[in-house]
Amino acid sequence: MNNPESKPVAIVTGGGTGIGAACCKALSAEGFRIGIHYRKSEAQAKDVLSQIEDGFLLKADLADVDEVEEMAKSIKGMAGRVDVLVNNAGIAVNSDINSMKIGEFDSQRTTLRGAWYLTKRILRLFMLRSNSGRIIDISSVVGHTGNGGQIPYAMEKAALDAFTKSLAKELWGRNILVNSVAPGFIDTAMTKSLPGDVQQKVLENIPLGRMGRPEEVADVVAFLASRGTYITGSVIHVNGGLYGG
Ligand SMILES: NC(=O)c1ccc[n+]([C@@H]2O[C@H](COP(=O)([O-])OP(=O)(O)OC[C@H]3O[C@@H](n4cnc5c(N)ncnc54)[C@H](OP(=O)(O)O)[C@@H]3O)[C@@H](O)[C@H]2O)c1
Repeated sequence: MNNPESKPVAIVTGGGTGIGAACCKALSAEGFRIGIHYRKSEAQAKDVLSQIEDGFLLKADLADVDEVEEMAKSIKGMAGRVDVLVNNAGIAVNSDINSMKIGEFDSQRTTLRGAWYLTKRILRLFMLRSNSGRIIDISSVVGHTGNGGQIPYAMEKAALDAFTKSLAKELWGRNILVNSVAPGFIDTAMTKSLPGDVQQKVLENIPLGRMGRPEEVADVVAFLASRGTYITGSVIHVNGGLYGG
């Protein structure tokens, strides 16, 4: 059960970099204590921690169920409550169907399983006990439009939105709201890894004529975490007009 007198806590997976780092800062500005999760980006996660008012670090490879389990339990000792979970961590495996190896396909799949398992444990340990919470899944426009060269990634993101909608229904009657935020093309390490000609082609299809900034996604996450009291099971698109939903 959450101690109502302690500061509300938000956990952000992949909180050291890109969209996750922006979410940590935006949620901190909303008054949350932030659990900044990272896997490899320790230095960046520490840097985010130094820029926010109150937080702590969490390390786990979300592809490893045992590490996720250990992390979920460690939050009990470190924070004692979880009010918001942002499932942001993810990878994009870029390759066409002909070139993609089974191992690459499987590596994409484990990210989704990690989000599912962490959510399951956070619900059980915290949110179901307090009968309150917000779960925000960072999916993607490509789960709706499809994208050549990113089939497993698009499949994973479409599945993440299905997870959001299904979980919102499972939590019927409880004060636990579940939503997805589906970014378009946002200026982070993930999009920088795309070939220049692919980036150019993407830009040509964005009515606002530019990539988004991580902060523009984080603003929507902060709204869902702090306000957005009558929104659940929804996918909120943040893509500069690339796709209307
Ligand atoms: N950038 C875009 O245009 C865009 C568009 C739509 C959706 N998204 C989604 O937004 C989210 C954040 O991406 P980003 O653009 O900010 O890229 P990013 O900087 O590459 O962030 C990805 C984050 O995921 C974490 N991560 C990946 N695999 C992990 C694992 N197995 N276990 C634990 N952490 C793991 C990484 O942590 P470490 O570095 O510590 O390993 C990293 O912090 C992703 O889910 C991505 O699919 C991005």
